[in-house]
Amino acid sequence: MISKQTIDKIFSTIRVEEIVGEYVQLKRAGSNYKGLSPFHDEKTPSFVVSASKQIWKDFSTGKGGTAISFLMEIENFTYPEALRHAAKKYGIEIEEDQREYSEEAKQAHTERDMLYKIHEVANNYFQEILWDSEEGKSIGLSYFKERELKDDIIKKFQLGYSPEQKNAFTAYALEKGYTKEILEKSGLSIFPENTPSGVDRFRERVIFPIHSFSGRVLGFGARILKNNIKTAKYLNSPETEIYHKSNVLYGLNQSKQAISRKNVCLLVEGYMDVISLHMSGIENVVASSGTSLTTEQIKLIKRLTENVTILFDGDNAGIKASFRSIDMLLTEGMNIRVLLFPDGDDPDSFARKHPQEYVEKFIENQALDFIDFKAEILLKEVGNDPIKKAEAIRDIVKSVSFVQNALKREVYLKEVSNKFGLSEQSLFNELDVQKQITQNQTQKAQIKAEAQQPAKLQIVDEPRDQVDPIVFNVTKLENDLINHMLNYGDVVLQRTTPDEQKYEITVIEEILHHFEEDDYEFQVELNKRIVDYIKEGIEKEELRKGNFFFGLMDEELSKAAVNSMNIYSELNDWSTRNIFSPNYGDKIPEQVAGDILIHKFRYVNFLILKTKKELADYADSDESKYFELIKKIQMLTLVSVELSKVLNYSAITGIYSDR
Ligand code: CTP
Ligand code: MN
Repeated sequence: MISKQTIDKIFSTIRVEEIVGEYVQLKRAGSNYKGLSPFHDEKTPSFVVSASKQIWKDFSTGKGGTAISFLMEIENFTYPEALRHAAKKYGIEIEEDQREYSEEAKQAHTERDMLYKIHEVANNYFQEILWDSEEGKSIGLSYFKERELKDDIIKKFQLGYSPEQKNAFTAYALEKGYTKEILEKSGLSIFPENTPSGVDRFRERVIFPIHSFSGRVLGFGARILKNNIKTAKYLNSPETEIYHKSNVLYGLNQSKQAISRKNVCLLVEGYMDVISLHMSGIENVVASSGTSLTTEQIKLIKRLTENVTILFDGDNAGIKASFRSIDMLLTEGMNIRVLLFPDGDDPDSFARKHPQEYVEKFIENQALDFIDFKAEILLKEVGNDPIKKAEAIRDIVKSVSFVQNALKREVYLKEVSNKFGLSEQSLFNELDVQKQITQNQTQKAQIKAEAQQPAKLQIVDEPRDQVDPIVFNVTKLENDLINHMLNYGDVVLQRTTPDEQKYEITVIEEILHHFEEDDYEFQVELNKRIVDYIKEGIEKEELRKGNFFFGLMDEELSKAAVNSMNIYSELNDWSTRNIFSPNYGDKIPEQVAGDILIHKFRYVNFLILKTKKELADYADSDESKYFELIKKIQMLTLVSVELSKVLNYSAITGIYSDR
């Protein structure tokens, strides 16, 4: 486990705007930064980074957090992984703290760490074999040379070679102390029952490591050397805890800068296509590696650019299957062009045949927009059959219906109208039909996706209609009070006792006192945990407000704390979306006193209701218990009436009202 001191050091060193800035283009907006949400498609920036609070908030998805939680979201890191990543970036040495390790936590953390590690080890091993062993040089390296790859490009993509010997890598890794379990989990080795020494997954193949956005090795692709052998040409890592092929694009790590600089991403199919284009100086290219494009992959590209040019082999049988990718790219709001290479060429062979400038010009001049591309492919087949022609046009209009921007949609439709000499009106009608169909489909997909979402961590109000209104009311105020503690816990309040004695108390203490006085039962488990931490702080004479929680090893808690932080006070132009009142924080003394009172009132009513429900259980069975409960209700009702008087009085005089 990373020691508390190291965590504190990390949090005090790293800058959220720098870490986020590597993924999102941020522009200054007052004391904050703004950018397009990396988690959601949008045209107007709703992603805000507060440099002074060192937190970020994404108003389009409701996500928010620290630099560390941002890394967790965007890189799919666990908490310790994100900490280690940040520490590395800022050159902070990690101190390990062995004491607090629970066995289970240790396992969970270390397993992913170990998977990353074993891939790093394997990646180095395959490269060493390629460059330094006789077999590697004479077989692997000469294969790459045959394919005209230069040394520097082989090194840039960290290509390697796996030797013929059945368990060469497995033996090497076991010798180094890696366990059979982790080797098996990584997909790099298998251990059949009668072969305790294990078998390598990749044998006698050239190796293409697959990197994450930030450059960690997640898995491998491996190619056989001869084309005529019956086994699959490429063998890839299986899905593992760190490798999900639908979330990865080959070459993204090496190409990300060029993609964002050129503001267009070339999309190819194969490993070799990416590498050859790089070698000829065209570096804004990624490969979907044989799988059909996924939404996650498109989102990865979209962080860098909204423009994609798809490059196909001339003889590609799967072109029609690519129509699906086109529709998905359009749905994600991307601008697409498509290029077919001449028969027999793929981007790899084409790039090796021609100089860089020629290839660039060719792509620029020959790429078609998706309408022309689909028309070309579809109309080739229909000949003079009018029904088939109508079908083809409908197919094209269907793609137009995926275009999210209304203006763009209209422009495209005009293009279809001109191209086929059809009235715009009839095309608009068809578009409406298609839009209805796709809307129904996306709605269904959304509902399905939402149903699979895990429960939200942040402290939010559940929708009113799903919750008992009395419980809702208590919970709402409970959350408000927690927010006050986290945001303004150390504000000192000037108070007066009923007998006119003046005293000072902090927001944290006043609210804590209220919870304890009423023996309050928390409705939200996370709130209780926050309060327990705050109490522990009081015993140590510390006031623990929001920033204390950011650095906690408990990621659930630190996330919740960040989410309740008030970023709005600094965002004048967000006031239209206010969730907190725009001047939240201006009148903390009044707000805290008022909210405690309202919370008390609602809690008492909640207890009355709860006791009434209990009452029914004892009506016939336990007379003394029954009367005890009746008494309790009477007493609570008295308190409720008294409180409502105070609240009404306050409402009339405008001090505070039950919102
Ligand atoms: N692929 C795969 N498994 C296969 C075949 C292909 O994973 N059995 C993936 C690989 O990522 C490959 C891509 O699909 O790079 C494209 O396949 P293909 O066009 O057949 O390969 P090329 O990249 O052209 O490979 P090469 O030029 O080395 O023959
Ligand atoms: Mn090829």
